[in-house]
Amino acid sequence: MKIVSLSASEILDSRGLPTVEVSLGLDRVTARASVPSGKSTGKAEALELRDGDKKRYGGKGVLKAVEAVNGTIARALVGKELPSQAELDRILIELDGTPTKSHLGANAIVGVSIAAARSRALIEGTPLYASLGGAEATLLPVPCFNVINGGAHAPNDLDFQEFMLAPAGRRTYAEALRAGSEVYHALAAVLSSKGLSSAVGDEGGFAPAIKHPTEALDLLMRAIERSGYRAGEDIFIAIDPAASGFFTDGRYVFAGESHDAAEMSAMYAAWLREYPILSIEDGLAEDDVAGWRLLTRDLGKRVQIVGDDIFVSNPGKIAAAIKEGTANAVLLKPNQIGTVTEISEAARVARAGGFRMMMSHRSGETDDSFVADLAVALRTGQIKSGAPARGERVAKYNQLLRIERELGTRARYAGRGAFAGA
Ligand code: PGA
Ligand code: ZN
Repeated sequence: MKIVSLSASEILDSRGLPTVEVSLGLDRVTARASVPSGKSTGKAEALELRDGDKKRYGGKGVLKAVEAVNGTIARALVGKELPSQAELDRILIELDGTPTKSHLGANAIVGVSIAAARSRALIEGTPLYASLGGAEATLLPVPCFNVINGGAHAPNDLDFQEFMLAPAGRRTYAEALRAGSEVYHALAAVLSSKGLSSAVGDEGGFAPAIKHPTEALDLLMRAIERSGYRAGEDIFIAIDPAASGFFTDGRYVFAGESHDAAEMSAMYAAWLREYPILSIEDGLAEDDVAGWRLLTRDLGKRVQIVGDDIFVSNPGKIAAAIKEGTANAVLLKPNQIGTVTEISEAARVARAGGFRMMMSHRSGETDDSFVADLAVALRTGQIKSGAPARGERVAKYNQLLRIERELGTRARYAGRGAFAGA
């Protein structure tokens, strides 16, 4: 099957900022992919190419990345047979020629990589998750709903970035989604009863004027209780403090407190006794590797310790972390590394080393639901895609509903056992 067309254009993401959309045409099918964008990014992420032309979109235009697709990449691929995913991604990496994909832009490259994966599924007449994951792709991930937003994703004074509901104790994905929605609405009512705003942050979670992380945890507990679910049985809590964002001069500074890594670890340990927390992502800063080892040694048997900024979905970094005992799980974001092959390799390395995995959207999103299919394909057992509200967030959650329905009796819900420390 020949690639007959390949083009990109500039569209808007959920924050109203430009991003790349790629269209790849084969003989009878055309596949599209659009690219997400992070705001609290790890330092070693693949490079998101932005124009820097202050006269357009405040410098955030992506015409250079668009041109990379329409020029260099299209010239190399159009008219050729659609290669295997591994071969296609190898060509993209070679055309770019830099370790961080800074020449063509990771936003250009990941868009082409995903569009190609989707076009292959279309010509096979196979669902995307099955095309990527084969017959084993039957595991529905536990959705982690980010219902209170802080940090870089909201204008409130809450320094911790994400407070998530993980309905790991429900029996099916559909029941988990329902629980997420019901508790989300119960949380709105709890906020309103306390005179707090239910306006939302970048990922659709509420962004009330609270400051201390335990205020957010208490609000979640109230909402779970109000909705009639059992905290610690039906629904658990996952957090992403995104601690790189409040790490200054070797100290963690938030809500008027200042701690070192050992004190942070003791604080999290105390929270584990009080709240049904099953996952802590970026509980410490990406530069505090010694702190990560201490945290993993202290708490890694009892709770999932997920690396996001610190591993940036990089297979090499994940392999090193497995050897050194830094964390026990990894967040997977395709645009952090830049190709479908590399994110699949990251998952392979993580699984082989006993790390658990959470698939992830970005805070800037589009209606592209690729990560939903990828979570099933890579059998991650967990996914986070923001609140159970807002079009770009529910695009992923709804796609998982379709997949569960389509799999029928073959579908399995990952549940509590998907998390490290369970
Ligand atoms: P980002 O953050 O998408 O804004 O980079 C998400 C996260 O830290 O998990
Ligand atoms: Zn994170």
